Amino acid sequence: MKTINLINLKGGVGKTTVSVHLAIALAESWDLRVLFIDNDKQANASSWLDADEERGSLTNILLDGNTAEEVIQPTKYEKLDLIAADMGLLEANVKALKDKVSRQDRIFADAIANIQSRYDVCVIDNPPDINMSVFNTMVVAKDVMIVSLPEADSLSGIYKMADQMEKMRPYNHHLRLRGVLLNQYLHSDISSVLLDKLREKGFPLFQTKIRFATKKAKTHLIEARLKQRSIFEELPSCGVARDLMKFVEELMDSYRTEGSHD
Ligand SMILES: Nc1ncnc2c1ncn2[C@@H]1O[C@H](COP(=O)(O)OP(=O)(O)OP(=O)(O)O)[C@@H](O)[C@H]1O
Ligand SMILES: [Mg+2]
Repeated sequence: MKTINLINLKGGVGKTTVSVHLAIALAESWDLRVLFIDNDKQANASSWLDADEERGSLTNILLDGNTAEEVIQPTKYEKLDLIAADMGLLEANVKALKDKVSRQDRIFADAIANIQSRYDVCVIDNPPDINMSVFNTMVVAKDVMIVSLPEADSLSGIYKMADQMEKMRPYNHHLRLRGVLLNQYLHSDISSVLLDKLREKGFPLFQTKIRFATKKAKTHLIEARLKQRSIFEELPSCGVARDLMKFVEELMDSYRTEGSHD
């Protein structure tokens, strides 16, 4: 199972939008068996994927010792399953910080160990934060993607995330930055300068950039979220939908090129 972890300390950059569309595209268009893990107490992705609160959540894994199997739920997309989030993740993270006795960094890894063979890909959406549950996802994920806005502040955010990843490497030698994906992108001289800075520092960048939605596309993005479906279903011809699909193609092509299977 390939695990793709989407992160950024900064809020509102599009982690949830990108991760939900990545998961749906892989399940529906690539016919892969996908597990989506919502690791954000805001539970935006869970609600987008129409989670059933009665089926349990990641909180039950982190706080109550449930196995992944016990809390996985299907979605309306045949090949896409979900481990939902809820506000309980707040308590789970506080408890993990206070617990000085048991090992807190591998709860996640242990919980998903025996379901690895059931899925081809696991996509993880994270909160705009680094806490113990994010740390847990870094222990299991090989590939990390930073979703970022093309703004000056975002650069320092990307550097901070990269530093954090280095600190986590002793816990996961395979951890690597798969790439920085720019979202809400507007072509301008400033954007080019920011891109050059990232290239100079050696950051891997996705060639595809998700454009800033036009007013019409933004309305459809909001509609899609409300109707709990993807922009691919809502308005597949819009630029944002096409960029998101192009990004998934680029990602899958890069896996094909390197012949990676896990
Ligand atoms: N390409 C885009 N163009 C315009 N608006 C966008 C684009 N991508 C996402 N948005 C909007 O930006 C807002 C934040 O997106 P999203 O919730 O995906 O970000 P996030 O990083 O997951 O936020 P948080 O850190 O709070 O979890 C939403 O209103 C979403 O519709
Ligand atoms: Mg989010």
